[in-house]
Amino acid sequence: MKLLKQEAAELTDRALEELLPSVETVPASIHGAMRHSTFAGGKRLRPLLAYQAAAIFAGAVPKGIERLGAALEMLHTYSLIHDDLPALDNDDLRRGKPTCHVVFGEAIAILAGDALQTRAFEVLAGLDSPPEATVQIIGLVANAVGTVEGMIGGQVLDIESEHQKPTPELVQAIHRAKTGALIRVSVVAGGVYAGAKLEDVARLTLFGCKAGLAFQIVDDVLDMTVDSAQLGKTAGKDQATEKATWPAVFGIEQSERDAARLIEEAFAALEPYGSRADGLKAVARYLVERKN
Ligand code: IPE
Ligand code: IPE
Ligand code: MG
Ligand code: MG
Ligand code: MG
Repeated sequence: MKLLKQEAAELTDRALEELLPSVETVPASIHGAMRHSTFAGGKRLRPLLAYQAAAIFAGAVPKGIERLGAALEMLHTYSLIHDDLPALDNDDLRRGKPTCHVVFGEAIAILAGDALQTRAFEVLAGLDSPPEATVQIIGLVANAVGTVEGMIGGQVLDIESEHQKPTPELVQAIHRAKTGALIRVSVVAGGVYAGAKLEDVARLTLFGCKAGLAFQIVDDVLDMTVDSAQLGKTAGKDQATEKATWPAVFGIEQSERDAARLIEEAFAALEPYGSRADGLKAVARYLVERKN
């Protein structure tokens, strides 16, 4: 079954709508904050990666996988709320809207991020996958969000590397962890949900690593080449804060070539699946061709 990007985003949005407490639920302020950031207009790419990876093994998008997609999107949104806090990147625009802490205050924004994370794991624990697959998914996702080569670890490196001349090794370590890990696990978890075996997990991991790094390289390039209105977040921020970015090390043109090369390398990992992987490949292509 062909799943269009738009349809996949709607599938994810419906699941999020159902799974997040309503704004009337007490305490209302935090539920308003969680929903403000979640429904501000994200591209929903991590769920889409999970659905397309699952389709390789299930032949179609398997039942109930939208709850995995929603959990991944909650974790991603949590990372964005915290990334924008004054103590981290100090941003006031996200997904075209004022950031969570600007609207709800810092305390509620911190707690909204925390709450999206715990709700995500609660949702993962209730997935329809076989129990062993569910436990595997929870472990993989927790690891990808964590401190050792995971999102939080990458954020630490990112913050601690500001105002320094970055090396290629450092920027690669930051990008693989802060962004690549969640992209990679979205692909892998989608596969595991649909019955991927050990050798499949290895292939999806390799694909996800390459695609995830390419994604953050493009994020860095877009920060320098596109305006805030199109990005939905403050453009030119990385240079202003002297972030360790790919273009800071390699320049914009080389960065664009590297992202394109990484996607070709990522495709090679999917070769054994032939045309069954076309959907996943199309998403990977979009990761580097996007303009926001
Ligand atoms: C932005 O991710 C933050 C990074 C990890 C670079 P996306 O570009 O996927 O953001 P949304 O979800 O569409 O807002
Ligand atoms: C953020 O990287 C990655 C995470 C949110 C974990 P950036 O700081 O480059 O993301 P943007 O550009 O603010 O979206
Ligand atoms: Mg950041
Ligand atoms: Mg940021
Ligand atoms: Mg960025």
